[in-house]
Amino acid sequence: MSTSHTGRSVKKAAAILQAGGVVAIPTETVYGLAGNIYSKKAISKIYSTKKRPRSNPLIVHVASVDMAKQLVTSFPMAAMKLARKFWPGPLTIILPKNKNVGDWLTADENTVGIRIPNHPLTLRLIEVTGLPLAAPSANPFTYISPVTAQQVEKMLGSKVDYILDGGRSRKGIESTIVEVRGNAVRLLRSGAITDLQIEKALGHPLQRNKSVKTAYPGMFKKHYSPHTPLILTSDVISIVNKCKNKKIAILSFQKKYALPITIMQIQLSKKGDTEEAASNLYDSLHRLDQGDYDLIVAEKAPVYGLGKAINERLQKAAVK
Ligand code: TXA
Ligand code: MG
Repeated sequence: MSTSHTGRSVKKAAAILQAGGVVAIPTETVYGLAGNIYSKKAISKIYSTKKRPRSNPLIVHVASVDMAKQLVTSFPMAAMKLARKFWPGPLTIILPKNKNVGDWLTADENTVGIRIPNHPLTLRLIEVTGLPLAAPSANPFTYISPVTAQQVEKMLGSKVDYILDGGRSRKGIESTIVEVRGNAVRLLRSGAITDLQIEKALGHPLQRNKSVKTAYPGMFKKHYSPHTPLILTSDVISIVNKCKNKKIAILSFQKKYALPITIMQIQLSKKGDTEEAASNLYDSLHRLDQGDYDLIVAEKAPVYGLGKAINERLQKAAVK
């Protein structure tokens, strides 16, 4: 599907961003809804298009460490280690912001989240414009994040000025978010890079203080959520047995269940690979939510690899 405002033109996307418009951009994690961080008008449009509360800050996408440094008061050693290892890539680093970052962008926090996305079109777009781009995921607030231009088109359509089509996002779930204060590194959101990978790069353990974590903006209980009710379980069969009169779809991690063929089943990874499962997660949820089901029964992923990040998302998707 292609419409007049979906395409592959970096030039067109750049002109719109420079004029204060909003453009859906491809990244390796999910599609973002991007605007020039220096344009109040663009930032307001991002919030209103998503119906996102203003108390929830936006993260900024840059094309180099030098560009990131222009937005912060310091770039500690620990942050530099992580940036060198994982950028461009799915790691967002929260750092103390400087006066170049307006309060309207960060909900009055004194910090800003930054990452270099790993997608050739979006990197070109940032380089061509020279602009840091604020971009939350390009979904309406609390709904499933998009991993294709077509999903953005379906959810936001004409509300965005242009959709830059860069194909399906390879990672399929959002970036991991860490906050760096001095040399202390705290995990705020699990994502496409595992805790273990980060700890290996740092050479010491991450802080995971639960009570602090829930106090952060944007760490809402309900998120990533389809309109169809969803149950997360380790025991798919017993839920299916309890819901005999319902039209059910199953989202399993690996297994194919011995059930009547009338029951829709999607396996996230037939070989049990958590990266493959993550890359199929949102795409599958979008597909199932298009179907006319009464209930999606999602099976818990195993705890290794990206299983934790997958389960955290399914847990939030299950909240009504
Ligand atoms: O992979 C990703 O990170 C995608 C792509 C487009 O880059 N972006 C994304 O943005 O997931 P968003 O806004 O959907 O999620 C970012 C999360 C939000 O929960 C927000 O509250 C939190 O990061 N956040 C942003 N700035 C923060 C800050 N200064 N302190 C604490 N949390 C922050
Ligand atoms: Mg989001």
